[in-house]
Amino acid sequence: MGKTFRAIVVREREDGTFTRSIETRDTDELPPGEVLIRVHYTSVNYKDALSAIGNRGVTKNYPHTPGIDAAGVVEESSSADFKPGEEVLVTGYDLGMNTSGGMAEYIRVPASWVVRLPAGLSLKESMIYGTAGFTAALSVYKLTGAGVRPDAGEVLVTGASGGVGSLALRFLAKLGYRVVAAAGLVEESEYPRVEEKLKSLGASRVIPASEVNDTSGKLLLKGIWPGAIDTVGGNVLATVVKQAAYLGVVTTCGNTGGHELNLNVYPFILRGVTLIGIDSVECPMDLRLQVWEKMAGEWKPDNLEDFATEITLEQVEERFRLLLDKKSQGRAVVRVQ
Ligand SMILES: NC(=O)c1ccc[n+]([C@@H]2O[C@H](COP(=O)([O-])OP(=O)(O)OC[C@H]3O[C@@H](n4cnc5c(N)ncnc54)[C@H](OP(=O)(O)O)[C@@H]3O)[C@@H](O)[C@H]2O)c1
Repeated sequence: MGKTFRAIVVREREDGTFTRSIETRDTDELPPGEVLIRVHYTSVNYKDALSAIGNRGVTKNYPHTPGIDAAGVVEESSSADFKPGEEVLVTGYDLGMNTSGGMAEYIRVPASWVVRLPAGLSLKESMIYGTAGFTAALSVYKLTGAGVRPDAGEVLVTGASGGVGSLALRFLAKLGYRVVAAAGLVEESEYPRVEEKLKSLGASRVIPASEVNDTSGKLLLKGIWPGAIDTVGGNVLATVVKQAAYLGVVTTCGNTGGHELNLNVYPFILRGVTLIGIDSVECPMDLRLQVWEKMAGEWKPDNLEDFATEITLEQVEERFRLLLDKKSQGRAVVRVQ
């Protein structure tokens, strides 16, 4: 017998529907791996909600414990790289997909997935960021690495009220960029509130998403953005690429607005535009560590705690519902212990 622990477990019923409850599990049931981690915090992502409702694109086999993010303390390690008592975090790879995830008091993972908690971050703060914050930071890292400088003009963030968008906005503002935030899902009556919030995060200007959702069918639009971080995808991404300035750089990480991309070659061959794909899941470890260093240091927002609400494992179910209904606001960090 290993150690018993509490975990959210998703089970498939005979009729094909799925149930979720908090169960007692045993660490002997966890998959093989070099590092056993006692999880202190996890976060709630859309992908976790999909796993929790039986989406086979995320999780093939049930029963399953979701949670693509986890931060905690090494309990046992057969890897020379990690010692018991060290604070660590894991995001992405297969965690929470087909490997038992962070919505549990323990995970066991390969050492190659584990990031030592960088100085300057608490376990909780690392999960306020979670995969959304890491994806935002990776997008900013790639945009700045491609040569978009703060004096180049206004840079754009789409889906700016979402988890990735709001953190990308904050990082860019902290680095001295003038950031235009495109926010679209809100009712007109809510616009002033959203505008105020996005400005408090550092947006110099807020525009309705309709301004980056062109339906004219034009092959190129007025070149505006020297840099843009798109988190929406679909026609919004196509519009942003057509609106990119000469040698403009656009990053793409999301598909909430659609997975298809109806584009033409002219932004690339007439304006030299660069489109950079962002993948947080399999991001190589050397790049991963560099990005986490930035997030813990010079890019860290002063008010990081304001980006998430702390909840318990019992409250995760309600959060899944809000995410699936597209009614969630801000991120949720889950205190597991
Ligand atoms: N590539 C990766 O490694 C990676 C990692 C994490 C997340 N992602 C993806 O990145 C995207 C953003 O993630 P997130 O955590 O920021 O999500 P989120 O918190 O749900 O925010 C998504 C935002 O997109 C905007 N949006 C525009 N059109 C939408 C539509 N039709 N349906 C829903 N939202 C729409 C909304 O902001 P406004 O109201 O401000 O427009 C919404 O707040 C998702 O597609 C997610 O799957 C990718």
